[in-house]
Amino acid sequence: MPSISNKGRNMPESPIRKLVPFAEAAVKKGKKIYQLNIGQPDIETPKAALDAVKNNNIDVLSYSHSAGFESYRIKLAKYYRKNDIPVDAEDIIITTGGSEALLFAMGSITDPGDEVIIPEPFYANYNGFATASGVQIVPIKGSIEDNFSLPEISEFEKLITDKTKAILLCNPGNPTGYLYTREEIQQLADLAIKHDLFIVADEVYREFAYDGVKHHSIMSIPGLEQNAIMVDSVSKRYSMCGARIGCLVSKNKEVMTAAMKFAQARLSPPTFAQIAAEAALDTPDEYFEEVNKEYTERRNLLIEGLERIPGVKVAKPKGAFYCIAELPVENADKFAQWLLEDFEFNKETVMVAPAAGFYSTPNTGMNQVRIAYVLKKENLERAIEILKIALEEYNK
Ligand SMILES: Cc1ncc(COP(=O)(O)O)c(C=O)c1O
Repeated sequence: MPSISNKGRNMPESPIRKLVPFAEAAVKKGKKIYQLNIGQPDIETPKAALDAVKNNNIDVLSYSHSAGFESYRIKLAKYYRKNDIPVDAEDIIITTGGSEALLFAMGSITDPGDEVIIPEPFYANYNGFATASGVQIVPIKGSIEDNFSLPEISEFEKLITDKTKAILLCNPGNPTGYLYTREEIQQLADLAIKHDLFIVADEVYREFAYDGVKHHSIMSIPGLEQNAIMVDSVSKRYSMCGARIGCLVSKNKEVMTAAMKFAQARLSPPTFAQIAAEAALDTPDEYFEEVNKEYTERRNLLIEGLERIPGVKVAKPKGAFYCIAELPVENADKFAQWLLEDFEFNKETVMVAPAAGFYSTPNTGMNQVRIAYVLKKENLERAIEILKIALEEYNK
């Protein structure tokens, strides 16, 4: 039989989705599952976005420009400028989700064997994108005790080699919920300039910053124009995960020229979804105020609830809608599977994402899980109660 590639063999499973077969079996047995494993918000998509698709009179569903509709990019640049991100339409390539923007970024700036430094734990699919691109992730470990704040810059500097091409940041962080301060971003920018590195900033959770703390974009740092690449998405901002629209943003013309060749190779981003994403830009500020209020309440409820469970340690998130929790178990992978296969409380259980897959350092985060607070408060409350009962039973 012909053999598959090493790359195919080494591609990691998604820790967020790998337990799905066990969840499907549990549902078939009649169990109700509270899904804390996946960042699929239950918030309604803005009506304007859905109406724009429903009410258009397209006769031919054609390709668009490889960089995306110009009208969309012009409007998007306006939205960025409002958020202190001084870019124009020509600095933006619309992609099929932020996922494709991450692939384009890695493809445009790295060669096989190159290294990218990433604070860990990090968004699990960075492991997959790095494998697909032949890139070596060099992790720098944050700690749950100090909420996964940025490690000392001197620690970053120690990891820089002649193969290092970039630092990849997720701000606000998935899975940590960490929100970088202006000073931290500036320190990283100085380091990138000193060593001639790119900074790729995944800012798909930009709008989700709590407690009155402001989000600082990598694109707003003066002097970093040639080093900064931003990845963005409508998936979370407008609760439009299924639209599959994101973008890659940079003032660096060479990066954009390279990325554009990747964009041309896949022809264009989805047409209907661009119509929806363009219309979503008219979403009033009050939408975000309400959504943020809801997420802040959910976060508080979750963190307080988790802190009440004996043996659970949790980092307090300042943004996005996830947290990493350390559980009183040896192997969170086994525990997460047990929750679906063997446990139920009144025919209900919870699904969490084992956190080891959010690290690239082997055997790290083994007793941690990522929890997404994307459920309504009453469901979240119930899910925490079930988790507490499950931990008691598991450790009996
Ligand atoms: C940090 C981060 N970046 C990128 C993505 C990719 O999002 P999408 O491809 O839906 O835009 C996600 C999705 O969960 C994410 O959490």
